[in-house]
Order: sequence, then C-alpha cells, then structure tokens
Amino acid sequence: MNILITGAAGYIGSHSTVELIQAGHHIVMLDNLINSHKVSVNCIEKITGKNVPFIECDLRNTVLVESVLRDYMIDAVIHFAGLKSVSESIKYPIEYTANNIQSTISLLIAMKNSNIKTLVFSSSATVYGEPKYLPLDELHPVSAVNPYGRNKLHIEEMLIDLVASDPLWKIISLRYFNPVGAHESGLIGENPIGIPNNLFPFISKVAAGELPYLKVYGGDYPTYDGTGIRDYIHVMDLAEGHLAALRYINKSAGYLTVNLGAGFGVSVLEVIKMYELVSHKKINYEVVERRPGDVAMCYANVDKAKLFLNWTPKRNLNAMCASAWYFQNKL
Ligand code: NAD
Ligand code: WQD
Repeated sequence: MNILITGAAGYIGSHSTVELIQAGHHIVMLDNLINSHKVSVNCIEKITGKNVPFIECDLRNTVLVESVLRDYMIDAVIHFAGLKSVSESIKYPIEYTANNIQSTISLLIAMKNSNIKTLVFSSSATVYGEPKYLPLDELHPVSAVNPYGRNKLHIEEMLIDLVASDPLWKIISLRYFNPVGAHESGLIGENPIGIPNNLFPFISKVAAGELPYLKVYGGDYPTYDGTGIRDYIHVMDLAEGHLAALRYINKSAGYLTVNLGAGFGVSVLEVIKMYELVSHKKINYEVVERRPGDVAMCYANVDKAKLFLNWTPKRNLNAMCASAWYFQNKL
C-alpha cells in the first residue's frame, strides 16, 4: 500500500515507518519537525536501505497535504502528528488545541477531498483518566483530565461522527500506553529536546551521567513497592501493532478502538533495577513527593488487540531497557 505517515520523524512515527517499509509498504513521511529532527529520515533510509520521500510541512496546510495525497496516490494514512506533553498542554492549552485539533481537521478534509478514507489514529491511554478498575479495557469510561487528553478524546469523537456519516470510512484509534525503548540498530529512539519529563529517557540520561539522579515521584502509592505502576510497551511492538491495524482495516469497515500495551504493570523501582542490570550502571535516585496528576496504577487489557488485530506484544522489560541504553550510547 501507499501510506502517508504524519509525524513520521517523531519517536513512534519513525519506528513504525521502518516496520512498514520492511513489510513492503511504500511510505511518504510528513512532519513539520516541531518536535523532531530531519536526521531521523536519514536514519530510516540507512536502516531500510530505501529512499523515503519526506515532506516538511505543517499538517494544517490542507492544500499541500491534499496534493501529497494525490501525487503519491496514497491509499491510507497513519496519523501520529501532534503535540504530546501533558504538562505543556496544561500550560499552553490553546496552542495544543490549535495544533492537535486543527491539524487533524485539516488532514481529514484533505483525505475527504481526495477520496481516501482509511486512517489509523494515535490515541492514548490518557483518555481513561483515573482508572475505575484494572486492567483498563476499551469499555472503561473515558474522561479528559488535562487539555492533551481532551484533544485526544475530541479527535476520537470526530472520527466516530465521520464513520457514522459515511460508511466508506475505515478508522482505527489505537490507545497507546507507555511506549519505551528503541530500534535494535540504535539509530532511532526517544531523545526529547531539553530535560526529559518521562521516566525512560530520564533514566537513560542518569545512566549516561548526563543527569545526576532520578526523582522517583511518590513512594507511598498503594502498590507493592509504593511507586507508580505503568504499562510500558516496547516501541517496536507498537510499530508491529500499526502493521497489524493496517492488515485488519483492509478487510473491514467502520470504527474500532484498540488498546496497545504490554498488558502488565511494572513499578518505577522495577524499571530502575532492570536498567541497572542491562547498563551495568548505578541509577542514583531519590524518592520525592508524588507528581500532580499521576495515578497509582495504569495498565492495559490487550485482549481486543489479540482478537481483532491478531497482535500480541513480544518484547519484555529487559529488551525495553537494553534497547533504550543501546540507543543512548549511540547519541
Ligand atoms: P513525537 O513528538 O516524537 O512525534 C510527533 C511528531 O509530530 C513530531 O515529529 C512533530 O514534529 C510532528 N508534528 C506535531 N505537530 C505537527 C503538525 N501540525 N504538522 C506536522 N507535524 C507535526 O511524539 P510520539 O511519542 O512519536 O507520539 C506520536 C503520537 O502518539 C502523538 O499523537 C502522541 O500524542 C501519541 N502518543 C504518544 C505517547 C507517548 O508516550 N510517546 C503515548 C500515547 C500516545
Ligand atoms: C511513568 C512513571 C511517574 C518521571 C505519560 C503521559 C501519557 C502518555 C505516556 C501520551 C510514573 C514516574 C516519571 C520521573 C518518576 N503519553 N516518574 N520520575 O506519566 O505514565 O504517562 O506518557 O499520551 O498520557 O501522561 O509516563 O514516563 O512520565 O511516568 O518517578 O522523572 O514514572 O510518576 O509513575 P506517564 P512517565
């Protein structure tokens, strides 16, 4: 298939691009590089040995997006592009909505005008808000607890309306849990600009000696070791999930929401221990106050992904930490 990948230079987009190219798809990458670097395009070409067209463009430029869809005879779109920081979204709610909602509307208009009606959308487990039960399945009630989550919910609702208005649309919203790790080549991975907010890139910098110690946010949660529990999923498992979603969507119609997670929870202390094991480095840490907005536990039920997409995650915590560390050492 000819596939347009929006946000393709970013963390999850770049790994998924590699996976899809290796599965034989023809990819066109689109990104405005607001949170990524063009060098990831070169890395993707190096890994795959293929030339990959890259369009540097803001998704809100509907006319340009439409011409890309037509010129490259695109069959389907995977829509990763967006701003993704919860804390930033609380600080800049208008900018987040202006980017995330307007770019999705622009993409959908361009797709509609070009009669391309197959879409995979990057949603997030954040739409579940405070868990009422665990593991979180797709029937768990949704609620927006921050502007970023509100953007994701709003987009999911737009997509439901779109499919209801025209049954030729085929759309899957994939709700990712906590993507971590890197491609085995060590050429692409997660390298946020500035001081990382998320656990894995922060630990990588501590292990590398670039940051002095990790603050463990909360040691008094009602969990087995008092620290927060999350569902970390290897980014290459996630990339394979997109391939599986495309396979499914080709044989079906309508709208589907699917969790993509590992299906089990891991505590912050367990991540630290595993990272120390694979890196042979001491991860200095200090347990501090809980981070506002954090929940004690969040992990997925991934039965629906198995049932509908025939996808199950394969990589364990060791592989997640080892690949993150290998990538860190290649920076
Ligand atoms: P990322 O920031 O690495 O990648 C997103 C890419 O989108 C960036 O390269 C950025 O430059 C681009 N972009 C942003 N706005 C754009 C616009 N208007 N036009 C064109 N390009 C634009 O983030 P990621 O971690 O790869 O996340 C990809 C998607 O997955 C996002 O939609 C994010 O909300 C979602 N998601 C991420 C996580 C996570 O923890 N990483 C979890 C759940 C969901
Ligand atoms: C993981 C655990 C922290 C940093 C976020 C978004 C979510 C989704 C994925 C986009 C928690 C603890 C962290 C640190 C720590 N993104 N931690 N010290 O918050 O689960 O999820 O990314 O959709 O919407 O909210 O991920 O990696 O920040 O935190 O102790 O310096 O690590 O308290 O228990 P989070 P995270």
